Amino acid sequence: MRVLIVGSGGREHALAWKLASSPRIGRLWMAPGNAGTSALGENLPGVLVNDLDAIVAFARDQRPDLTVIGPDAPVAAGLADRLRAIDQPVFGPTRQAAELEWSKAFAKGFMQRHAIPAAASATFTEFAAASAYLEQQPFPLVLKANGLAAGKGVIIAATLVEARTALRQMMVERIFGAAADQVIVEEYLEGAETSFLVICNGAEFLPLLPAQDYKRIYEGDRGPNTGGMGTFAPARSLDPATQRLVVERILRPTLHGLIAEGRSYQGMLYIGLMLTAAGPRVLEYNCRFGDPETQVILPLMDTDLLPLFLKVATGASLAGEQIAWKSGAAVCVVLASGGYPGKYPTGKVIEGLAAAAALPETFLFHAGTRRAGDSTLDVLSPGEVLTDGGRVLGVTATGADLAEARRRAYDAVDKIEFEGKYFRRDIAAVAALQQV
Ligand code: AMP
Ligand code: GLY
Repeated sequence: MRVLIVGSGGREHALAWKLASSPRIGRLWMAPGNAGTSALGENLPGVLVNDLDAIVAFARDQRPDLTVIGPDAPVAAGLADRLRAIDQPVFGPTRQAAELEWSKAFAKGFMQRHAIPAAASATFTEFAAASAYLEQQPFPLVLKANGLAAGKGVIIAATLVEARTALRQMMVERIFGAAADQVIVEEYLEGAETSFLVICNGAEFLPLLPAQDYKRIYEGDRGPNTGGMGTFAPARSLDPATQRLVVERILRPTLHGLIAEGRSYQGMLYIGLMLTAAGPRVLEYNCRFGDPETQVILPLMDTDLLPLFLKVATGASLAGEQIAWKSGAAVCVVLASGGYPGKYPTGKVIEGLAAAAALPETFLFHAGTRRAGDSTLDVLSPGEVLTDGGRVLGVTATGADLAEARRRAYDAVDKIEFEGKYFRRDIAAVAALQQV
C-alpha cells in the first residue's frame, strides 16, 4: 500500500510512525512532513498543507492507495471532496460534514436540532448586540470565534471587563480575522475535560481510548489556550458507564443527525467533552485527529490502523472490526518555543534528541522542526535539527501505569535542550497520583 499523509505536525509524525509499522505499508509520503517524518518515509517539501492544487496533482500523478488528512484547514477547504472526485481513497470527511468544526455556529445549531447536550449559548454577528448581551450574563463566561483559529479562538472571561475586551478584540480589532465575524457566547461548564476520538464511517464507529489534553499554556491550567501542551491516555474520567452514555446521547445522535442532513461522516471525529455534574456535554467537534492526543493514543494501539483507514476510505463496512489496546498508559509533554502561543523565534538548535530517543518506551514526535541548512526539509540534508514552530516536539513515553509513563516522558524532556525551551511540568501529575 502506498500512503500519503497530509500535514507536518506531531500528530502527523505519530500517524506516519503508526502506519509505517503496518505489514501492509509499501511507500509512505508526507506532504510536507518535518525533520522527524523524513526517517519514516519521503517528505514532499513542495507540497504544502494548504496547497490543495499541489496535493491533488500529486495524488493524480502517483495514485496513492490512501490519503490521510491531518490538519483542520485542508479538511475545511474540501480536500477530501477533491480527492474523491478523482477516485482517490481518502480518510477524512467532506467539507460539508466538517462544518461541525469550521463553523461553531453550525455545530451549535446542529446540536440543538438533534438534542445533543452542550453548553447554553447565543450567536452574534453584531458587536452592539453581543455587547448588550454580555451585560446580562453571569461570569465566568466563554467567547468563541465561529471559525478556525488554530485552537486559540476561545476566550474564557472571568469578569465582564475581560469579556468586553475579548469581544472588542474579536469583532472590532478582528484579531482572528473573518473567523470571528460571528461570535458565540456560551455558558461556562465545569468538570473533567476529555477528548473522545472515534473512527466513523456513516453510522458505524470505532472509539479510540479517551485522552486528556492540557490546553492552557501555564501550569495549573492558567493563561491563554494553545493547540495543546500535553496529553495522557487513557483518561479514566471517561469510565465505561460514562462512555456508554456518551455513545448513546452524543455519538449516535451526531452520526445519525449528519446522515439525516445529507452530510454522512467518513473519517476521524474528535468530540471534546466536558463531564459535568449534570452529565457529559459537547464542548466542540473536531473533524480530524487531535494534536497531541494522537501522540498518546497511537503508541497504545495494538491493532494495525492501515486496514481500518482503507475500509473507511473505500466505503467498506467496519462490521466485525475491533481495536485492541496495550495495557498501561502514555504521556506526551509538548516542548514549545519560548513565547508560544504568542510570537516566538525559530531556528534554534535542538540538542539531546538521540540520548532522549534511546530511553525505554520513549517516542519523540516532531512538530515544528526542520534540518539545518535547509529550509525545504530536504530529507538528504545531514544537518542538525532546528526549531521551526511554536510546538516543537511531543515527547511521549508509555509505561505500566501513568506514573511510569510520566516519569519516562519527563526523563526524556530533561535530556533535550534548545534556547527558550518551554514546557509544563504538571502533565498527568494529578491523574498519576489518583491512579495509585
Ligand atoms: P473549544 O475549541 O471549543 O474546545 O474550546 C477550547 C477550550 O476552551 C476547551 O478545550 C475548554 O478547555 C475551554 N472551553 C470551551 N468551551 C467551554 C465552556 N463552555 N466551558 C468551559 N470551558 C470551555
Ligand atoms: N489538542 C486539541 C486539538 O487537537 O484540537
